[in-house]
Amino acid sequence: MQLNLAIIGLGGVGRGFAELVADRGVALLDRHDIDLKIVAVSDAFLGFAFDPEGLDPLQLAQLPREAGALAALSGGQANPDNRRAITEKVVDFVLEATVTDPVTGEPAMTHCNLARESGKHFVTSNKGPIALDGRRLRREAATSRLGLDYEGVVMSGTPVLRFGRECLAGCRIDGFRGILNGTSNFMLGRIEAGATFQAALKEAQDLGYAEADPTADIGGSDVRLKTLILAQEFLGFHGAPTDIEMQGIAELKAEDVHAAPAQGRRWKLIGEGRRNADGRILLSVRPIALPLSDPLAGVGGAMNAITFSTDLLGDVTVSGPGAGRRETAFALLSDILGIVRMAVPPRYNLRKAASQ
Ligand SMILES: NC(=O)c1ccc[n+]([C@@H]2O[C@H](COP(=O)([O-])OP(=O)(O)OC[C@H]3O[C@@H](n4cnc5c(N)ncnc54)[C@H](OP(=O)(O)O)[C@@H]3O)[C@@H](O)[C@H]2O)c1
Repeated sequence: MQLNLAIIGLGGVGRGFAELVADRGVALLDRHDIDLKIVAVSDAFLGFAFDPEGLDPLQLAQLPREAGALAALSGGQANPDNRRAITEKVVDFVLEATVTDPVTGEPAMTHCNLARESGKHFVTSNKGPIALDGRRLRREAATSRLGLDYEGVVMSGTPVLRFGRECLAGCRIDGFRGILNGTSNFMLGRIEAGATFQAALKEAQDLGYAEADPTADIGGSDVRLKTLILAQEFLGFHGAPTDIEMQGIAELKAEDVHAAPAQGRRWKLIGEGRRNADGRILLSVRPIALPLSDPLAGVGGAMNAITFSTDLLGDVTVSGPGAGRRETAFALLSDILGIVRMAVPPRYNLRKAASQ
Protein backbone atom coordinates (compact mmCIF):
# COMPACT_ATOMS: atom_id res chain seq x y z
CA MET A 1 0.00 0.00 0.00
CA GLN A 2 1.49 3.33 -1.00
CA LEU A 3 1.08 6.20 1.46
CA ASN A 4 1.86 9.71 0.29
CA LEU A 5 3.10 12.04 3.00
CA ALA A 6 3.48 15.80 3.41
CA ILE A 7 5.93 17.03 6.05
CA ILE A 8 5.33 20.47 7.56
CA GLY A 9 8.49 21.57 9.39
CA LEU A 10 11.78 20.07 8.27
CA GLY A 11 13.79 20.67 11.45
CA GLY A 12 15.38 17.97 13.61
CA VAL A 13 12.29 15.75 13.78
CA GLY A 14 11.18 16.27 10.15
CA ARG A 15 14.66 15.40 8.91
CA GLY A 16 14.84 12.49 11.34
CA PHE A 17 11.66 11.17 9.77
CA ALA A 18 13.04 11.55 6.22
CA GLU A 19 16.12 9.64 7.40
CA LEU A 20 13.91 6.84 8.78
CA VAL A 21 12.11 6.55 5.45
CA ALA A 22 15.48 6.41 3.65
CA ASP A 23 16.84 3.76 6.07
CA ARG A 24 13.71 1.69 6.69
CA GLY A 25 11.67 2.09 3.52
CA VAL A 26 12.43 -1.40 2.21
CA ALA A 27 11.91 -3.07 5.59
CA LEU A 28 8.56 -1.29 6.03
CA LEU A 29 7.43 -2.50 2.64
CA ASP A 30 8.52 -6.08 3.40
CA ARG A 31 7.19 -6.24 6.91
CA HIS A 32 4.07 -4.05 6.82
CA ASP A 33 3.34 -3.82 3.10
CA ILE A 34 3.61 -0.04 3.37
CA ASP A 35 5.44 2.07 0.84
CA LEU A 36 6.04 5.52 2.38
CA LYS A 37 6.56 8.33 -0.13
CA ILE A 38 7.30 11.88 0.96
CA VAL A 39 5.62 13.85 -1.81
CA ALA A 40 5.55 17.34 -0.26
CA VAL A 41 7.63 19.31 2.25
CA SER A 42 7.10 22.82 3.53
CA ASP A 43 9.31 24.62 6.03
CA ALA A 44 9.34 28.27 7.11
CA PHE A 45 13.10 28.53 6.59
CA LEU A 46 13.82 26.03 3.80
CA GLY A 47 10.85 26.65 1.46
CA PHE A 48 8.67 24.12 -0.30
CA ALA A 49 9.01 21.12 -2.61
CA PHE A 50 6.44 18.86 -4.26
CA ASP A 51 6.84 15.79 -6.43
CA PRO A 52 3.88 13.41 -6.80
CA GLU A 53 6.34 10.61 -7.62
CA GLY A 54 8.13 11.11 -4.29
CA LEU A 55 11.01 13.32 -3.14
CA ASP A 56 14.34 11.65 -2.29
CA PRO A 57 14.15 11.13 1.51
CA LEU A 58 17.93 11.03 1.94
CA GLN A 59 18.28 14.30 0.08
CA LEU A 60 15.67 15.83 2.40
CA ALA A 61 17.43 14.47 5.49
CA GLN A 62 20.74 15.92 4.33
CA LEU A 63 19.48 19.21 2.91
CA PRO A 64 21.83 22.09 3.86
CA ARG A 65 20.36 24.31 6.58
CA GLU A 66 20.28 27.35 4.30
CA ALA A 67 17.39 29.72 3.67
CA GLY A 68 15.29 28.53 0.72
CA ALA A 69 17.36 25.33 0.25
CA LEU A 70 14.32 23.36 -1.00
CA ALA A 71 14.39 25.50 -4.18
CA ALA A 72 17.33 23.36 -5.35
CA LEU A 73 15.04 20.28 -5.66
CA SER A 74 12.92 19.65 -8.72
CA GLY A 75 9.45 21.00 -7.91
CA GLY A 76 11.05 23.18 -5.25
CA GLN A 77 10.82 26.86 -4.36
CA ALA A 78 12.38 29.12 -1.73
CA ASN A 79 9.08 30.16 -0.14
CA PRO A 80 7.12 27.81 2.10
CA ASP A 81 3.60 26.79 1.08
CA ASN A 82 2.08 24.85 3.95
CA ARG A 83 -1.42 25.11 2.52
CA ARG A 84 -0.45 23.55 -0.77
CA ALA A 85 1.58 20.79 0.93
CA ILE A 86 -1.42 19.85 3.10
CA THR A 87 -4.11 20.13 0.44
CA GLU A 88 -2.37 18.55 -2.57
CA LYS A 89 -4.73 15.86 -3.83
CA VAL A 90 -2.21 12.99 -3.72
CA VAL A 91 -1.32 13.56 -0.03
CA ASP A 92 -2.75 10.92 2.37
CA PHE A 93 -0.97 11.85 5.63
CA VAL A 94 0.22 15.19 7.01
CA LEU A 95 3.18 15.04 9.42
CA GLU A 96 3.33 18.20 11.52
CA ALA A 97 6.73 18.92 13.12
CA THR A 98 6.85 22.70 13.47
CA VAL A 99 7.67 24.53 16.68
CA THR A 100 5.43 24.21 19.75
CA ASP A 101 3.50 27.27 20.88
CA PRO A 102 2.13 26.51 24.36
CA VAL A 103 -0.26 29.49 24.37
CA THR A 104 -2.01 29.39 20.96
CA GLY A 105 -0.98 25.97 19.62
CA GLU A 106 -0.21 27.69 16.30
CA PRO A 107 0.81 27.15 13.56
CA ALA A 108 0.09 23.47 14.22
CA MET A 109 -3.56 24.05 15.14
CA THR A 110 -4.24 25.60 11.73
CA HIS A 111 -2.36 22.75 10.01
CA CYS A 112 -4.42 20.16 11.89
CA ASN A 113 -7.73 21.88 11.02
CA LEU A 114 -6.75 22.24 7.37
CA ALA A 115 -5.70 18.60 7.17
CA ARG A 116 -9.11 17.50 8.45
CA GLU A 117 -10.99 19.83 6.13
CA SER A 118 -8.94 18.39 3.25
CA GLY A 119 -9.59 14.77 4.26
CA LYS A 120 -6.01 13.93 5.32
CA HIS A 121 -4.82 11.85 8.24
CA PHE A 122 -2.70 13.88 10.66
CA VAL A 123 0.20 12.91 12.92
CA THR A 124 2.25 15.30 15.03
CA SER A 125 4.95 15.54 17.67
CA ASN A 126 3.72 19.02 18.58
CA LYS A 127 2.29 19.33 22.10
CA GLY A 128 0.63 22.72 21.46
CA PRO A 129 -2.59 21.80 19.66
CA ILE A 130 -3.04 18.52 21.55
CA ALA A 131 -2.71 20.06 25.01
CA LEU A 132 -4.85 23.09 24.19
CA ASP A 133 -7.62 21.59 22.06
CA GLY A 134 -6.95 17.85 21.75
CA ARG A 135 -10.51 16.85 22.65
CA ARG A 136 -12.07 18.84 19.81
CA LEU A 137 -9.38 17.77 17.33
CA ARG A 138 -9.89 14.09 18.21
CA ARG A 139 -13.67 14.35 18.05
CA GLU A 140 -13.62 16.11 14.69
CA ALA A 141 -11.09 13.70 13.21
CA ALA A 142 -13.21 10.75 14.37
CA THR A 143 -16.37 12.30 12.92
CA SER A 144 -14.56 12.75 9.60
CA ARG A 145 -13.27 9.15 9.86
CA LEU A 146 -9.69 10.38 9.77
CA GLY A 147 -6.69 9.27 11.80
CA LEU A 148 -5.16 11.71 14.29
CA ASP A 149 -2.29 10.65 16.51
CA TYR A 150 0.54 12.17 18.51
CA GLU A 151 2.55 9.53 20.39
CA GLY A 152 5.65 11.78 20.28
CA VAL A 153 4.17 14.57 22.42
CA VAL A 154 4.87 12.71 25.67
CA MET A 155 8.19 10.82 26.08
CA SER A 156 8.93 11.07 22.31
CA GLY A 157 9.29 7.57 20.85
CA THR A 158 8.63 5.67 24.10
CA PRO A 159 5.05 4.48 23.61
CA VAL A 160 3.22 5.65 26.71
CA LEU A 161 0.04 7.01 25.15
CA ARG A 162 -0.59 3.90 23.10
CA PHE A 163 0.48 1.75 26.06
CA GLY A 164 -2.09 3.38 28.31
CA ARG A 165 -4.84 3.38 25.70
CA GLU A 166 -4.35 -0.08 24.28
CA CYS A 167 -2.37 -2.27 26.69
CA LEU A 168 -4.15 -0.97 29.80
CA ALA A 169 -7.51 -0.76 28.05
CA GLY A 170 -9.23 -3.22 30.42
CA CYS A 171 -7.96 -1.48 33.55
CA ARG A 172 -9.15 1.64 35.27
CA ILE A 173 -6.29 4.14 35.40
CA ASP A 174 -6.60 6.03 38.68
CA GLY A 175 -3.50 8.16 38.28
CA PHE A 176 -0.01 8.59 36.91
CA ARG A 177 3.33 10.02 38.00
CA GLY A 178 6.04 10.76 35.51
CA ILE A 179 9.53 12.06 34.90
CA LEU A 180 8.59 13.82 31.69
CA ASN A 181 11.50 16.16 31.01
CA GLY A 182 14.96 14.78 30.27
CA THR A 183 16.82 18.07 30.76
CA SER A 184 15.65 18.61 34.32
CA ASN A 185 16.21 14.94 35.17
CA PHE A 186 19.75 15.08 33.82
CA MET A 187 20.41 18.28 35.76
CA LEU A 188 19.08 16.86 39.04
CA GLY A 189 21.42 13.88 38.61
CA ARG A 190 24.41 16.18 38.07
CA ILE A 191 23.44 18.37 41.04
CA GLU A 192 23.10 15.28 43.23
CA ALA A 193 26.64 14.31 42.12
CA GLY A 194 27.93 17.70 43.31
CA ALA A 195 27.53 20.13 40.38
CA THR A 196 26.07 23.60 40.89
CA PHE A 197 22.75 24.43 39.21
CA GLN A 198 24.53 26.62 36.61
CA ALA A 199 27.21 24.00 35.86
CA ALA A 200 24.54 21.30 35.45
CA LEU A 201 22.57 23.56 33.10
CA LYS A 202 25.65 24.33 31.00
CA GLU A 203 26.47 20.63 30.77
CA ALA A 204 22.88 19.88 29.64
CA GLN A 205 23.16 22.61 26.99
CA ASP A 206 26.59 21.38 25.81
CA LEU A 207 25.18 17.86 25.43
CA GLY A 208 22.22 19.20 23.41
CA TYR A 209 19.61 18.22 26.04
CA ALA A 210 18.60 21.77 27.00
CA GLU A 211 17.41 24.49 24.65
CA ALA A 212 19.36 27.77 24.41
CA ASP A 213 16.37 29.15 26.37
CA PRO A 214 15.82 26.44 29.00
CA THR A 215 12.87 28.15 30.74
CA ALA A 216 10.28 25.56 29.72
CA ASP A 217 12.51 22.68 30.87
CA ILE A 218 13.58 23.98 34.26
CA GLY A 219 10.51 26.11 35.02
CA GLY A 220 8.17 23.13 34.60
CA SER A 221 5.95 24.37 31.75
CA ASP A 222 7.06 21.59 29.39
CA VAL A 223 6.07 18.99 32.01
CA ARG A 224 2.83 20.87 32.64
CA LEU A 225 1.71 20.54 29.01
CA LYS A 226 2.57 16.82 29.06
CA THR A 227 0.75 16.34 32.38
CA LEU A 228 -2.29 18.05 30.87
CA ILE A 229 -2.20 15.75 27.83
CA LEU A 230 -1.91 12.65 30.05
CA ALA A 231 -4.73 13.87 32.30
CA GLN A 232 -7.02 14.49 29.32
CA GLU A 233 -6.16 11.15 27.84
CA PHE A 234 -6.38 8.92 30.91
CA LEU A 235 -8.35 10.76 33.61
CA GLY A 236 -10.92 12.52 31.42
CA PHE A 237 -9.72 15.93 32.62
CA HIS A 238 -10.96 19.02 30.77
CA GLY A 239 -9.01 22.16 31.45
CA ALA A 240 -6.18 24.49 30.63
CA PRO A 241 -2.45 24.40 31.44
CA THR A 242 -2.98 27.12 34.05
CA ASP A 243 -5.29 24.78 36.00
CA ILE A 244 -2.19 22.78 36.96
CA GLU A 245 -0.17 23.90 39.94
CA MET A 246 3.45 24.17 38.77
CA GLN A 247 6.90 24.43 40.31
CA GLY A 248 10.13 23.76 38.42
CA ILE A 249 13.57 22.76 39.69
CA ALA A 250 15.09 26.24 39.90
CA GLU A 251 13.95 26.82 43.50
CA LEU A 252 15.42 23.56 44.81
CA LYS A 253 18.45 23.97 47.03
CA ALA A 254 21.51 22.16 45.61
CA GLU A 255 22.53 20.98 49.12
CA ASP A 256 19.12 19.32 49.62
CA VAL A 257 19.40 17.48 46.30
CA HIS A 258 22.95 16.42 47.14
CA ALA A 259 22.03 15.24 50.65
CA ALA A 260 18.86 13.31 49.73
CA PRO A 261 20.37 9.85 48.95
CA ALA A 262 21.90 9.64 52.43
CA GLN A 263 18.31 10.01 53.69
CA GLY A 264 17.07 7.27 51.33
CA ARG A 265 15.54 9.74 48.86
CA ARG A 266 16.17 11.27 45.43
CA TRP A 267 14.72 14.49 44.01
CA LYS A 268 12.81 14.24 40.75
CA LEU A 269 10.62 16.69 38.85
CA ILE A 270 7.28 14.89 38.76
CA GLY A 271 4.18 15.52 36.67
CA GLU A 272 1.33 13.89 38.54
CA GLY A 273 -2.37 13.27 38.05
CA ARG A 274 -4.75 11.45 40.37
CA ARG A 275 -8.49 10.84 40.55
CA ASN A 276 -9.68 10.95 44.14
CA ALA A 277 -12.38 8.70 45.55
CA ASP A 278 -14.80 11.64 45.29
CA GLY A 279 -14.04 11.88 41.53
CA ARG A 280 -11.98 15.07 41.81
CA ILE A 281 -8.89 15.17 39.58
CA LEU A 282 -5.75 16.57 41.18
CA LEU A 283 -2.85 17.60 38.96
CA SER A 284 0.55 19.01 39.80
CA VAL A 285 4.07 19.55 38.55
CA ARG A 286 6.68 19.83 41.29
CA PRO A 287 9.96 18.42 42.52
CA ILE A 288 9.44 15.48 44.92
CA ALA A 289 12.03 13.65 47.04
CA LEU A 290 11.04 10.08 46.13
CA PRO A 291 12.04 7.09 48.25
CA LEU A 292 14.89 5.22 46.54
CA SER A 293 12.62 2.17 46.30
CA ASP A 294 10.30 4.04 43.88
CA PRO A 295 10.97 2.85 40.29
CA LEU A 296 11.08 6.50 39.18
CA ALA A 297 13.95 7.20 41.59
CA GLY A 298 16.18 4.88 39.56
CA VAL A 299 15.57 6.69 36.26
CA GLY A 300 18.77 8.62 35.61
CA GLY A 301 20.32 10.90 33.00
CA ALA A 302 17.99 12.30 30.33
CA MET A 303 15.67 9.27 30.49
CA ASN A 304 11.94 9.62 31.12
CA ALA A 305 9.48 7.28 32.84
CA ILE A 306 5.88 7.11 33.90
CA THR A 307 4.09 5.00 36.48
CA PHE A 308 0.40 4.32 35.84
CA SER A 309 -1.70 3.42 38.90
CA THR A 310 -4.33 0.91 37.83
CA ASP A 311 -7.06 -1.07 39.58
CA LEU A 312 -6.19 -4.49 38.10
CA LEU A 313 -2.39 -4.41 37.86
CA GLY A 314 -1.42 -1.96 40.58
CA ASP A 315 1.46 0.24 39.48
CA VAL A 316 2.97 -0.24 36.03
CA THR A 317 6.07 1.72 35.01
CA VAL A 318 7.31 2.38 31.48
CA SER A 319 10.69 4.04 30.93
CA GLY A 320 12.65 5.08 27.87
CA PRO A 321 13.99 8.04 25.93
CA GLY A 322 11.95 11.22 26.26
CA ALA A 323 13.48 13.25 23.43
CA GLY A 324 15.68 13.04 20.35
CA ARG A 325 15.06 13.65 16.66
CA ARG A 326 15.25 9.99 15.69
CA GLU A 327 13.20 8.84 18.68
CA THR A 328 10.50 11.42 17.91
CA ALA A 329 10.56 10.56 14.21
CA PHE A 330 9.93 6.96 15.26
CA ALA A 331 6.87 8.17 17.19
CA LEU A 332 5.49 9.69 13.96
CA LEU A 333 6.16 6.45 12.12
CA SER A 334 4.41 4.46 14.86
CA ASP A 335 1.43 6.83 14.58
CA ILE A 336 1.19 6.20 10.84
CA LEU A 337 1.43 2.44 11.31
CA GLY A 338 -1.15 2.59 14.09
CA ILE A 339 -3.63 4.50 11.91
CA VAL A 340 -3.10 2.10 9.01
CA ARG A 341 -3.60 -0.87 11.34
CA MET A 342 -6.92 0.59 12.50
CA ALA A 343 -8.05 0.80 8.89
CA VAL A 344 -6.77 -2.63 7.83
CA PRO A 345 -8.25 -5.72 9.55
CA PRO A 346 -5.73 -7.12 12.09
CA ARG A 347 -6.05 -10.62 10.63
CA TYR A 348 -4.34 -9.32 7.55
CA ASN A 349 -1.26 -8.47 9.62
CA LEU A 350 -1.34 -11.82 11.44
CA ARG A 351 -1.46 -13.76 8.18
CA LYS A 352 1.34 -11.67 6.78
CA ALA A 353 3.51 -12.12 9.90
CA ALA A 354 2.90 -15.87 9.89
CA SER A 355 4.03 -16.19 6.30
CA GLN A 356 7.38 -14.45 7.01
N1 LIG B 1 13.37 17.28 19.08
C1 LIG B 1 12.80 16.51 20.02
O1 LIG B 1 13.47 15.75 20.73
C2 LIG B 1 11.30 16.55 20.22
C3 LIG B 1 10.72 15.61 21.10
C4 LIG B 1 9.31 15.61 21.25
C5 LIG B 1 8.56 16.56 20.58
N2 LIG B 1 9.18 17.49 19.78
C6 LIG B 1 8.35 18.46 19.08
O2 LIG B 1 8.41 18.22 17.68
C7 LIG B 1 8.32 19.47 16.96
C8 LIG B 1 9.53 19.61 16.05
O3 LIG B 1 10.70 19.58 16.85
P1 LIG B 1 12.14 19.86 16.20
O4 LIG B 1 13.13 19.50 17.25
O5 LIG B 1 12.23 19.24 14.87
O6 LIG B 1 12.08 21.46 16.05
P2 LIG B 1 12.98 22.34 15.08
O7 LIG B 1 14.29 21.68 14.84
O8 LIG B 1 12.94 23.73 15.64
O9 LIG B 1 12.20 22.31 13.68
C9 LIG B 1 11.00 22.98 13.44
C10 LIG B 1 11.01 23.40 11.98
O10 LIG B 1 9.72 23.91 11.66
C11 LIG B 1 9.90 25.15 10.96
N3 LIG B 1 8.72 25.99 11.15
C12 LIG B 1 8.42 26.84 12.15
N4 LIG B 1 7.24 27.43 11.91
C13 LIG B 1 6.79 26.95 10.74
C14 LIG B 1 5.64 27.19 9.95
N5 LIG B 1 4.70 28.06 10.33
N6 LIG B 1 5.52 26.52 8.79
C15 LIG B 1 6.46 25.65 8.36
N7 LIG B 1 7.58 25.40 9.07
C16 LIG B 1 7.74 26.02 10.24
C17 LIG B 1 11.13 25.75 11.61
O11 LIG B 1 11.65 26.77 10.78
P3 LIG B 1 12.42 27.98 11.55
O12 LIG B 1 13.69 27.42 12.02
O13 LIG B 1 12.57 29.03 10.48
O14 LIG B 1 11.50 28.42 12.66
C18 LIG B 1 12.03 24.52 11.70
O15 LIG B 1 12.71 24.27 10.50
C19 LIG B 1 8.22 20.56 18.02
O16 LIG B 1 6.87 20.89 18.21
C20 LIG B 1 8.79 19.91 19.27
O17 LIG B 1 8.28 20.46 20.46
C21 LIG B 1 10.52 17.49 19.57
